[in-house]
Amino acid sequence: MKNKLNEMIIQAEKSIMSCKTYNDVLDVKAKYLGKKSDFNDLMQELKNLPNEEKPLFGKLINEAKQEISKLIDEKREELEKSKINDLLKAQAIDISLPGRDFTLGHKHVLTKTVEEIEDIFVGLGYEIKEGPEIESDLYNFEMLNLPKDHPAREMQDSFYITEEILMRTHTSPVQVRSLLANAERKPMKIICPGVVYRKDDDDQTHSHQFMQVEALVVDELTTLADLKGTLLLIAKKLFGENREIRLRPSYFPFTEPSVEVDVSCFKCNGKGCSMCKSTGWIEILGAGMVNNNVLQAAGYDPMKYQGFALGMGIERIAMLKYGIEDIRLLYTNDLRFNSQF
Ligand code: DAH
Repeated sequence: MKNKLNEMIIQAEKSIMSCKTYNDVLDVKAKYLGKKSDFNDLMQELKNLPNEEKPLFGKLINEAKQEISKLIDEKREELEKSKINDLLKAQAIDISLPGRDFTLGHKHVLTKTVEEIEDIFVGLGYEIKEGPEIESDLYNFEMLNLPKDHPAREMQDSFYITEEILMRTHTSPVQVRSLLANAERKPMKIICPGVVYRKDDDDQTHSHQFMQVEALVVDELTTLADLKGTLLLIAKKLFGENREIRLRPSYFPFTEPSVEVDVSCFKCNGKGCSMCKSTGWIEILGAGMVNNNVLQAAGYDPMKYQGFALGMGIERIAMLKYGIEDIRLLYTNDLRFNSQF
């Protein structure tokens, strides 16, 4: 009987070892520990044993059963573990794979140029102002010393909405608005970046809509020397430390004297090249001392207050800085162009 028991344990062990699935384990369990298991036959045999041997064999049978049930539990656990491991393997993420590329957008070259100009002025203590793009004839022209019949109005062909209302042709009306708003006559240093409109035919260098930055400084001690110093600083910041500037006499109705400002060519350092048309100089903006008529129209006493103003075309600055040859490229949003900056 003892042999039979050992034989059974060895057999059970073998069957358990060869189990591949949980169901296999259940079958083995039924075979060895179930109601119709081989142990039941042994229990029958136990009855026929002499009484003094019964306890010993009873104990042996129980131990054998425990042994087998332990093996079954272990196998079940092992199968469960390997099932989880298989599942984990199947769902494994390959962290060594390179991630999917995504392209970061960036600011448009015009926006970048505006922000660069703003930063320079803000660094000098200027405040940024805004004005409406739909403007009155009064602010856009008349109060800037451009009365209705003034010939200089022809320089800025305008989109009129009514006889008195138009799309602003420049950012200069913000000068008028800022002067009028400054009832306390506090010293003023402002810039106004913004879009302006002119009835021009679009071509390589013209657009019916473009951007300007206006600057205005007014207090009791402003001179042409302040304007000159400011212009030199701006030229250096925008086009490099080695830049020089040159002021040429010019005419704008809202400034007197008026100047056009050239910067020494940053491509050839003033020697003469295709960029500066062999002159060594590149025109970048218009400026001047605020005309007494403008101050007066806004209620300022020109004997007490002076100021300077300047206006620059942002597209022109961007085109010069980045070597862009057609202004229309700035508006057509061709990614091949936009992504270069
Ligand atoms: N408003 C002028 C234009 O659009 C540019 C300009 C010139 C503005 C001289 C100024 C200035 O403030 O002083 O052509």
